[in-house]
Amino acid sequence: MLPTAAAATIALLAATGAAAHAAPAFTPGAPGAGDPALPTYGNGGFDVAHYDLDVRYQPAIDELTAAHATIRATATQNLSRFDLDLIGLTVDAVRVDGRPATWTRDGWELVVTPPRGLRQGRPFTVDVTYHGVPKGWSIPDDSGERPPTQFGFVPTDDGAIVLGEPESAMTWYPSSDHPADKATFAVAVTVPDGLAAISVGLPLGHTTRSGWTTWRWASRHPSVTYATTIAIGRWRIDSHLHHGRPTIIAVDAALGPQYDAPVARTDEIIDYFETLFGPYPFESAGAIVERQPGLLAALETRTRPIYPSDRFEDTNAKYAVETVAHETAHQWFGDSVSIDFWYDLWLNEGFATYASWLWDEHDGFRTVREQFNRFYDYPLDFPFWTPAPYDPTDGDAIKSSNYYRGAMALHALRKQVGDPVFFALLRTWAAQHRDGNASTEQFIALATRLSGQDVRPLLLAWLSGPVKPVNPDPPPTA
Ligand code: TRP
Ligand code: ZN
Repeated sequence: MLPTAAAATIALLAATGAAAHAAPAFTPGAPGAGDPALPTYGNGGFDVAHYDLDVRYQPAIDELTAAHATIRATATQNLSRFDLDLIGLTVDAVRVDGRPATWTRDGWELVVTPPRGLRQGRPFTVDVTYHGVPKGWSIPDDSGERPPTQFGFVPTDDGAIVLGEPESAMTWYPSSDHPADKATFAVAVTVPDGLAAISVGLPLGHTTRSGWTTWRWASRHPSVTYATTIAIGRWRIDSHLHHGRPTIIAVDAALGPQYDAPVARTDEIIDYFETLFGPYPFESAGAIVERQPGLLAALETRTRPIYPSDRFEDTNAKYAVETVAHETAHQWFGDSVSIDFWYDLWLNEGFATYASWLWDEHDGFRTVREQFNRFYDYPLDFPFWTPAPYDPTDGDAIKSSNYYRGAMALHALRKQVGDPVFFALLRTWAAQHRDGNASTEQFIALATRLSGQDVRPLLLAWLSGPVKPVNPDPPPTA
């Protein structure tokens, strides 16, 4: 036995040592990704690498009768618990690394507590078994003349389709539903025989058993969650190789052949954009044309954009093709190069809009200069001018200024730096941030470096300034 004083000293040392080597504190992950516009979207404390989904859908009752999500992620802090985003639906079981976990629901936060804390840097797997009737959003038309606008998970007359931005994933699978957390994605969709399920990436075939057919899709490239989808129904499918890459175009079988024409130009549009923006970023391409009335708009679902057929009904067919060009351009800008914060959305929408102007000029519709001046001439109080696109303090996730003022900003930059630098900039941007995320500040820095000019004041005047900048490309005087 040690003398009392020595024992006390040793006890003290032991206690100090214990404190120094104590288990690090494990704390809850944040319920959101930290985006000022949508603070509870996405989640903190971990980073998703991959979603593997296996869902069964019974259209007769609009129900996901059996669904399973396997999510591979890595802890980015010592995690005591973490959230996923999931709207409605019933969770039947959650496992973390194969061990049963407890969970609670709080709005669309699915709060998961694993049996033990997860150390920072540790990869882990979450398995969620769930089912139920998915609930998207439906906004009634005030006039009562049009069908309600629907987005998220939308049941259709022959199946279902998912499309929505900023959110949609959380209406059908537990996710970190924010573009900052890109992940690869694989899905197996089981539907009654006679129906097909289209998704993003490469087709891995389908198998039939006891009246049900399972359709499998997977992608090697990481995706933002809002660009994932499933489209279930009866389709007229054109599947072919273009430059060795599968192009898969699915048109709702209830639609006449005139709806095939705009999307049939997808390959040609990709070829043109490759000359401007560099290689097409994905392993596959295509389109989905859905007849369901009331869908909000076309959406750049990755490799296979969704086009509501009512967007193809203008008497001038060039408008439909312009939409195909817009969504196809998003494959480079938005889907391959993605944003970290919603306030950078002009990097998606301004670029896709400008690309569609370039396509229109190439296709003999209207010139970029005409398009630029058409928008430039609107007064400054028009919604596509104000509020301005780039304002990190603005809480709007999606605003029309990202599209038209964003595109005008690019045209002003092009006029300032000249075509060779401008197009080198777009190609470098697409190559440097391929499969990643990027910001307005990074774009300004790259434009400054490649042009050797201080283009920051010009870009900020177009993207954030309170006054209309001087027109750099006025119409020719008659
Ligand atoms: N990103 C789409 C486009 O540029 C537009 C869009 C925004 C959208 N939110 C949506 C489309 C929700 C469908 C549903 O074309
Ligand atoms: Zn767009």
